[in-house]
Amino acid sequence: MPGFEVIGAEEQAEINDIFARGGVLFRHGFDAMRNGSYKVRDFEAAFATYMGVPHALAVTSGTAALRVALAVLDLQPGDEVITQSFTFVATAEAIIESRAVPVCCEIDGTLNMDPADLERRITPRTRAVIAVHMLGTPARLREIAAVCKRHDVVLIEDAAWGCGGSLDGRALGTWGRMGTFSFDFAKTMTTGEGGMIVFHDRSDYERAAAWHDHGHENNPKVPRWEDTRSGSGFNYRMTELQGAVGLAQLRKLDEVVRRQQYNRDSIWRSIKDLPGIVARDVPAGSVETADALVFETPSADVARELRNRLVAAGLATKILPEAVTWHFAGTWSHMPELVAHHGDLTEAFPATAARLARCVSLPVVVKMDESVPARVRATIAPVLA
Ligand SMILES: Cc1ncc(COP(=O)(O)O)c(C=O)c1O
Repeated sequence: MPGFEVIGAEEQAEINDIFARGGVLFRHGFDAMRNGSYKVRDFEAAFATYMGVPHALAVTSGTAALRVALAVLDLQPGDEVITQSFTFVATAEAIIESRAVPVCCEIDGTLNMDPADLERRITPRTRAVIAVHMLGTPARLREIAAVCKRHDVVLIEDAAWGCGGSLDGRALGTWGRMGTFSFDFAKTMTTGEGGMIVFHDRSDYERAAAWHDHGHENNPKVPRWEDTRSGSGFNYRMTELQGAVGLAQLRKLDEVVRRQQYNRDSIWRSIKDLPGIVARDVPAGSVETADALVFETPSADVARELRNRLVAAGLATKILPEAVTWHFAGTWSHMPELVAHHGDLTEAFPATAARLARCVSLPVVVKMDESVPARVRATIAPVLA
């Protein structure tokens, strides 16, 4: 789970460096005051290099990252954007904010987008697909990318949980035309609040950079207050404080992921022989961020019972089952746009509803108490015997 566990002297030093060099907290301009300190710009460059892409744009949140990426596509009312029914509300909210129709599809054993159901839901109005790597496990990107290509629709990855993971050696977030990341306080790397978009295409990057900054083109020939623009936009600019923390967190990302994988595997080793539990499917070639350990149980009743026992034992579950209402579109009757498209949401995604109800997700931390794997086993084994 969290980069917040490893926040320390390095993040503090990056922040101090801003104030030592003049205290400019805005990402643009004030060149004479800032003594070469450009934290957001440096963070974007370092992130792009880490991801192996030419361009990255820092924004205020993972939700903003999705909204800005969709702005690049110039969606029109009635255009449809498909995402998966197991994701955080933010993915659907960004589609709705973009004036497009949110469409959700079923998940498969990866707990991510089911490529076959995705293809069934594509219509002539479909403009884009947002695949999500929920809880740090890659979606079936090979198949999803092939569906998108076949139907000529744009693939965007919501890699809010995928930062530091990969598939076939390609970083999550870089398979699609654009990939978005969240650095909120629960994510593998954090800037408190914050997000990033990565791009392969320079014109996509330029469009996003302008749109997230009221349309500013940052034309070097004129001062900012006389800047050129070719369209309007909004303000989703990251501050230098966030950029500073991001620089330090990015340097720790690989180690955070490595330790999470180790801890996740330790818990799994201690329980995998228990009868009736089945690991989540993982596409071949995946490097997971191991934000959580997710497994299926024989029934929703068993999943609830495991959850109750874990909580009573001072352990915890994460998202499944207790926070499912924030993460399953079948419960989002507060989104009229989603209801207008799908009708009764409780009936709209039966395969996902049944699967999620059977799943239990355990949090994985970077600094795990070594007693946790044995305690998890002792707590859940009596229910599964
Ligand atoms: C799948 C997914 N997308 C987007 C977001 C939004 O990120 P943020 O909290 O940075 O706005 C989240 C946050 O948890 C998420 O889980």
